[in-house]
Order: sequence, then structure tokens, then C-alpha cells
Amino acid sequence: MGTLPKKILTVAVRKSSLQALVTGAAGFIGSHLVEALLQRGVRVRCLVRPTSHLKWVEGLPVEIIYGDCREKDSLGPGVKDVDLVFHLAGATRAIDAKTYFEVNALGTDNLVQACLEHNTRLQKFIYLSSQAAAGPGRNGGKKKESDHCSPVSPYGMSKRRGEELALSQAHELPLLILRPAAVYGPRDKAFLFLFQCLVKRIKPSISGGVEHLSLCSVQDLVGAILLAASTRTQSGEIFFLSDGHDYRMEEINDVLAQAMEVTAFRLRLPAPVLFGIAAVGQYFSKISGKPVLISRGRAEELIQPNWLCDITKARTLLGFEPQISLARGAKLTFDWYRKENWL
Ligand SMILES: NC(=O)c1ccc[n+]([C@@H]2O[C@H](COP(=O)([O-])OP(=O)(O)OC[C@H]3O[C@@H](n4cnc5c(N)ncnc54)[C@H](OP(=O)(O)O)[C@@H]3O)[C@@H](O)[C@H]2O)c1
Repeated sequence: MGTLPKKILTVAVRKSSLQALVTGAAGFIGSHLVEALLQRGVRVRCLVRPTSHLKWVEGLPVEIIYGDCREKDSLGPGVKDVDLVFHLAGATRAIDAKTYFEVNALGTDNLVQACLEHNTRLQKFIYLSSQAAAGPGRNGGKKKESDHCSPVSPYGMSKRRGEELALSQAHELPLLILRPAAVYGPRDKAFLFLFQCLVKRIKPSISGGVEHLSLCSVQDLVGAILLAASTRTQSGEIFFLSDGHDYRMEEINDVLAQAMEVTAFRLRLPAPVLFGIAAVGQYFSKISGKPVLISRGRAEELIQPNWLCDITKARTLLGFEPQISLARGAKLTFDWYRKENWL
């Protein structure tokens, strides 16, 4: 990974004879992880679907194996003989709650079961869950791993169910769960929308919407995943991951605009308008069969005031120390979007 800082590369997975399976390897975070593992000398097997777009892993010295998390029988060959499983496959946008559930919850259970049946040497199963599984903070502070989970969207509920199903096997499987906050960086299509608005000199904000937010650069996230793989932990541990800052939406817009060297003007969107957009989007999504960026569930997430998580546990037990400031991460991301003509 071109942008992964050397500091992060000097830690983490050290045994070069390791073999890892990465599910969701063709995706945004998965492809960055694959590159970082290869740089550490780990042999990588990528689990992808026959329909997956392989642009980011094409040409890399990896083994490609086809499988679908919804079909347990397709997962055996992927998990066989690997030392580490990084489970990143997931539905981040789907047309309905059922799809989220099938991929994120049952899909995770299928992979866990496949490991139990076909792999006796597994050293760690790392499940990339999400802050959405825990839900927003309710008391004004930062959410901790020990806090009650109250996801507000079908996505968050499916990720939480995936956690629960995996945790039910934590006595048999060396499991570790990571819950990153919203992740941004090169190849990401979710934050791209915000950059596109800023190019048009619009700083979108939802009145009564998110006030406090945690963020994580993909570079820091990959560093944390590598640390998680190489640090001794108890099975079933959960860790929040972010860059540790408490951002306001306005501040994020300003830092991004600065990185892009644009002056933009705030456009306030009342929550009912947001839900209107989501309803129209979902109607067309049903007809076209394609998921939308702003679904009802996403709107529900966007109106929650507090999406802060506490990374003290990751700092203490994993030695995680975020390296990328939002200003630097935004510049890296913007430059990459420009280079790839995404903006
Ligand atoms: N991005 C974030 O802000 C964020 C934050 C917290 C947690 N996460 C979690 O991180 C993971 C990776 O997210 P991402 O942002 O990199 O998303 P992404 O780019 O959409 O990648 C998801 C990958 O999962 C694969 N996948 C989907 N359904 C599958 C199935 N049934 N069987 C096998 N593979 C399947 C996709 O394959 P195709 O290419 O074939 O569709 C894709 O490669 C997800 O589990 C997500 O929940 C993401």
C-alpha cells in the first residue's frame, strides 16, 4: 500500500511463513489489508465472488479463491490450512434488511462454522464488525466496548448479530472483533459523496443530525488490524477503533474543504427532507435492484447526535496509536480521487 506509513509497517505480523485468508479482499478496506499483509511477507488467499471487481488485487501475488459467505459449502477450501482469517466481507449497502442479515450475520456464522470444520490450526479469526453494531452513544460520552449495544439501522443490527453468532463460538475459535468508526481513504466510495459536494462548493449538514463523530483513516485501520493479528488477546475480545478525536460535522467539512483548497457554503438539510430522499431512493432501489447511498437505515444513523467511540482499550491492549490526522488523511484521499479521476 503506497500510503501506509513506515511506522505502521514496522509493527504487527512478523512471521513471514504465515498464510492468511482475507474475505472481502476486493473491497475498499480488504484490498488495503491485502497489500499490507503482502508487504509483511504473509502469503495471502483472497476470498472473492465470481462477480467481484478485482481491480485493486489484480496483479498482486495472491491466491484467488471463489466463495460466497451466504453459501457455507463454498467456504471450506478458503479457510483450509490458513493461520489467520480476516473476515472483512460484508454488505455495507443493501436493498433490504434481509440481505444485510444474510451476508453480515449468517455469512459470518457460515465462515466461523467453516473454520471449525476445516481448519484445526487457526491462530486467529478477526472479524471486522463496525461501530454501527454498538449503536450511537446515549449519554453524551464516548461509547465503550462494555456498553450496551443498541444499533439503529438494519446494517448495524446485522453486524451486531454477526458478532453474537461469532461470540457464541469464542470458546472453540480464537476470535477477535474490531469495531471501526466510519472509515475513509483512497478507494472509498462512501466519503466520496462528501468530497463531490465540496467540489460543488456545498458543505452538507443535517439540522438536528450528527454532532459528535469518530473517524478512522484506512491506513490506521489496517495498522490496527495487523496489530490485532499479532498481539496475544483473549478469545472474544472486542475493540473500537478510530483516530481518537471527537469531530463535529462542521469541522470535518472544513478540514476536507481546506485539503481540497475550496471555499464551500453550508447547506442545511432538515431531517424530514433526509427521510424523504431516503424513501424515494428506496422506492427506486426496489425497482432497480441496486442499493442506494441514503437508505432509511442510513438516514436513521445520520440523525443520531453522538457517534463517538472510546479507543482506550485498543491503545492499552493492542498498543494501537493512530498516525493519520484528518487533515493528512483528507489530502491523501483527495489526491487519490483526483489521480483516479473520481473527482
Ligand atoms: N467502510 C467503513 O466505513 C466501515 C466501517 C466499519 C466497518 N466496516 C466493515 O468493513 C468491511 C469492509 O467494508 P468496506 O468499506 O471495505 O466495504 P466494501 O468495499 O463494500 O467491501 C466489502 C466486500 O465484501 C464482499 N462481499 C459482499 N457480500 C459478500 C458475500 N456474500 N460473500 C463474499 N463476499 C462478499 C464484497 O464483494 P463484491 O466486490 O463481490 O461486492 C466486497 O469486496 C465490512 O464488513 C464493513 O461492514 C466498514
